[in-house]
Amino acid sequence: MDRKVAVITGSASGIGKACLERLLSQGVEVFALDRDEVALARLKAASEGKPLHTVVVDIGSEESVRSSIEQISKVTSRIDYLINSAGIDHLDRIAECSFSDWRRILSVNLDGTFLMCQAVVRKMIAQRSGRIVNVASWLAKAGMAGHGPYAASKFGIVGLTQSLAKEVADLGITVNSVCPGPVEHTQMRAEADTQSLARGLSTAKDRLHLIPMGRMAVPDDVAGVILFLLSDDAAYMTGQAINVTGGLWMN
Ligand SMILES: NC(=O)c1ccc[n+]([C@@H]2O[C@H](COP(=O)([O-])OP(=O)(O)OC[C@H]3O[C@@H](n4cnc5c(N)ncnc54)[C@H](O)[C@@H]3O)[C@@H](O)[C@H]2O)c1
Repeated sequence: MDRKVAVITGSASGIGKACLERLLSQGVEVFALDRDEVALARLKAASEGKPLHTVVVDIGSEESVRSSIEQISKVTSRIDYLINSAGIDHLDRIAECSFSDWRRILSVNLDGTFLMCQAVVRKMIAQRSGRIVNVASWLAKAGMAGHGPYAASKFGIVGLTQSLAKEVADLGITVNSVCPGPVEHTQMRAEADTQSLARGLSTAKDRLHLIPMGRMAVPDDVAGVILFLLSDDAAYMTGQAINVTGGLWMN
């Protein structure tokens, strides 16, 4: 059987990297996309002959996404899995948030997910199969003070996921999102907590008591659910927004 091919954005760190490691260990050919060229080079150096390709991309740029898809298309004509994990946060109350910070978050998190979904689903439509998983957040289900642009972008990702899922459901393509709670050992968590402290907002550690399991997630907790959504066992699931929150959010 042909080797499966995966494209993962945000794969130089955190959840994307945990997915990359799991897929490579299963023999899947992986295209690792990220804006962090140095971290991608480290991944490549450590890949020890595994089928890993690295592509530097800014998913918030239409031109950069187009060029990354062109690079991928030179190596493979098919893409079986797309995981959109790249994302950024910016902490500010709405009253203080500049329009440029608002646009920056929407551009990477929502525009970037749209651009990647659009480019890859065109290939999946032609091949009449594929799996897409978009990494949203539990802030796609509830807003939080200081996270307005981020929450808006993540609510948008769930709407995009559901609409695309309906458009391609009859072609054997599934499109789902995952909604993690706070995930430690990620750059995003460290940066968000630093910004929260600077702005007098609560950090994830301050809110630990709200998580029934009593701990934050680690990237592998989320990667396991994403890999299930890529598997044949999840063939009848589409348009879902799956919480991975240790019980923090149950709706
Ligand atoms: N860490 C958390 O607490 C948490 C909670 C819920 C959801 N999430 C979501 O999980 C996803 C993965 O984040 P993570 O926690 O692994 O954080 P992370 O910061 O460790 O990883 C994010 C990766 O995305 C890359 N990236 C950022 N902007 C990019 C761009 N414009 N183009 C290409 N690559 C870009 C970064 O370089 C980084 O490698 C994000 O979408 C995030 O919103 C994270």
